[in-house]
Parts: sequence; C-alpha cells; structure tokens
Amino acid sequence: MDHERGNGTVRLEPWAEGDFWLLQAMNAPELMEHLGGPETEKQLAARQLRYERLSVDPDRAGCMFRIVLLPEERAVGAIGFWEHRSEEAGASAYETGWTVLPGFQGRGVATAATLAVVERARAEGRFPHLHAYPSTKNAPSNAVCRKAGFTLLAERELEYPPGHPMRCNDWRLDLTPPGA
Ligand SMILES: CC(C)(COP(=O)(O)OP(=O)(O)OC[C@H]1O[C@@H](n2cnc3c(N)ncnc32)[C@H](O)[C@@H]1OP(=O)(O)O)[C@@H](O)C(=O)NCCC(=O)NCCS
Repeated sequence: MDHERGNGTVRLEPWAEGDFWLLQAMNAPELMEHLGGPETEKQLAARQLRYERLSVDPDRAGCMFRIVLLPEERAVGAIGFWEHRSEEAGASAYETGWTVLPGFQGRGVATAATLAVVERARAEGRFPHLHAYPSTKNAPSNAVCRKAGFTLLAERELEYPPGHPMRCNDWRLDLTPPGA
C-alpha cells in the first residue's frame, strides 16, 4: 500500500542486490553523524548482505526496504524492521531505523515510510511492540517518532555501533490492534 504524509507518498520495496549504490549514498558523513560515522567498504558490503538476507529469509523477523518516492518512482532512502532483544523488557520486540537522502528530506518521506513499516510489522505479528532508538541529539529522527505515533519511554545508554556509546531515546509503538 502507498502511504501519504505531507508531500511524501512512498512505496516500500524489499532490499535487493541492486541497492548497494543506495547504501553507499547513505554512508555520507552528514547522514552518519548520529550513527557512529561512515562505515568502511568492507562494513558496507557486510551490511548489504545482512539487508538482502533479512529481505528474503522467511525465518527471520522483519525486512529491509528501499523507500521509493512516488510518483517519481525514485529510490530515496532505506527503512526496515528487525528483531531486537530488549534488555529492559527481557523479551524480543521489533526495532526500526531509517535514512532519507539529503535532497528528499523535510517533506514527510521518513514519516510516511515509518507508517508503512508499522503496518508491515503489525501484519507480520511476531512481537507486540515496535521500538526506535534515535540519539537524543537527532532532532529530525525524534520528530519522525513523534509524528508516527510512538510514545517516548525513557532515555537509555546504548552502544551503536558496538563500542560506541550513545545516549538514545527509547520510543515504542504498540502494534496490538485496538480492542484485541
Ligand atoms: C531522520 C531522517 C530520516 C528524517 O527524514 P525526513 O524524510 O526528512 O523526515 P520527515 O520529513 O518525515 O520529518 C522530519 C521532521 O523533523 C523535523 N526537523 C528537521 N530538523 C529539525 C530540527 N533541527 N529540530 C527539530 N525538528 C526538526 C522536520 O521539521 C520534520 O517535522 P515536521 O514535518 O513536523 O516539520 C533524515 O534526517 C536522515 O536520513 N537522517 C540521517 C540518518 C539518521 O540519522 N537516521 C536515524 C536513525 S534512528
């Protein structure tokens, strides 16, 4: 289903082999500021494989997607959802994360893509909650969480990437249908 939000109408398509250029474009220093800085080519290649696997393996919870902007039919970013073992809850939940290329930011693309992921996670139905952990300093990403209907639970100290401590907001969205 296509999602409209502000000026951004998007479609999510499962991550594929041909999307490596997008991963490279998303590795720009300004986009990686709150994600531990740019990765090496080797790390990017490993990430590409993880994204492809997540998109095709039915045994794994979640999926990675390229975000396609409509009506231009242009890939402008990435979003996904995957299993995350929450230390606080002592149980698994879904986690989501997103990036939108600079020329396409500020027009609702990430918010529309997040709403589409909420729908997919709800339909897959393995876990009752979807979390996002943006850095407390990442104002646009925290705005996306708020606009997409997440609730702010708490600030947490996380390591992302491993070995790189980061102060994050723990946002959570209940995937249980109302009345269930
Ligand atoms: C986070 C990111 C995906 C947002 O993408 P986007 O398509 O621009 O997001 P949206 O347009 O849906 O919403 C962005 C919101 O942030 C707000 N925003 C932007 N800069 C802001 C700032 N400095 N302070 C407060 N709010 C800000 C915008 O105003 C907008 O809210 P509004 O619609 O109420 O005006 C994009 O900035 C990005 O790719 N960042 C780099 C990667 C990253 O940090 N990812 C997050 C990992 S958790």
